[in-house]
Amino acid sequence: MNIDLTGKGTLVTGGARGIGKCIANACADHGADIGIVDVDEEGGHETVAEIRSRGRSAVYYPCDVTAPDEVKKVVIGVQKDLGGLHILVNNAGITRDTLLLRMRDEEWSQVLDVNLKGAFHFTRAASKYLMKVDDGRIINIASVVGITGNAGQANYAASKGGLISFTKAVAKELAPRGVTVNAIAPGFIETKMTAGLDEKAKELLLKAIPIGRYGKPEEVANGVVFLASELASYVTGHVLVISGGMAM
Ligand code: NAI
Repeated sequence: MNIDLTGKGTLVTGGARGIGKCIANACADHGADIGIVDVDEEGGHETVAEIRSRGRSAVYYPCDVTAPDEVKKVVIGVQKDLGGLHILVNNAGITRDTLLLRMRDEEWSQVLDVNLKGAFHFTRAASKYLMKVDDGRIINIASVVGITGNAGQANYAASKGGLISFTKAVAKELAPRGVTVNAIAPGFIETKMTAGLDEKAKELLLKAIPIGRYGKPEEVANGVVFLASELASYVTGHVLVISGGMAM
């Protein structure tokens, strides 16, 4: 069976760069109409221009996922601009890494607000529209850290572990309404988020990856395309680990 997302309105949060940008491009390549949500206006417009230059439709929505009113406006806008919403990818995420004893309240709150509450805002606003289409999809980008934990990332691990539990709870609520809800837990993927890590930390991480290399954003996007497609019609509440064997 070919993967065909033709005409499916798809929102990707954090789509201005990195994994989100790659997800948006991959879904567009399979026919989806794309909405990019991001606080980075320059990057948002760039992604949209890239998708349009390949003959696909895309719209940029400047929006902070932590602001529920902005989120509602985006979801309403998508009905008009993309002719409906079929696929929501909650990908926007940040890190504020530091050891627990040094962690400031705002470092905890910022990470939880973007990574977990942002997904809650979009999922709540989008659900009523996703229930109206035949094959609504929600895909949350979590992390292996949400499964295994990681020193120096108590805030990030809590947000991603929470996102995984949120995925399962919402999967149970929305399954009877025809919407599947899944998570992807990437391992170490080469993007701006990970570029800042020092070389020693990167070397140690590499040793923990059985496949012996870091992942590429495209390899996460492939998982999203699968979960968004008809091929995954009977998959819900699942966490797809894409980590080169780092977490198993
Ligand atoms: P990135 O930092 O390159 O991109 C994140 C995007 O989210 C940026 O465009 C940023 O402007 C946007 N964003 C941040 N806060 C936002 C907000 N409040 N509202 C709207 N947009 C906002 O990160 P990357 O590496 O592409 O990560 C994407 C997702 O994948 C994140 O959720 C991250 O936690 C997750 N992930 C990444 C891994 C990696 O190794 N790079 C590994 C596991 C998970």
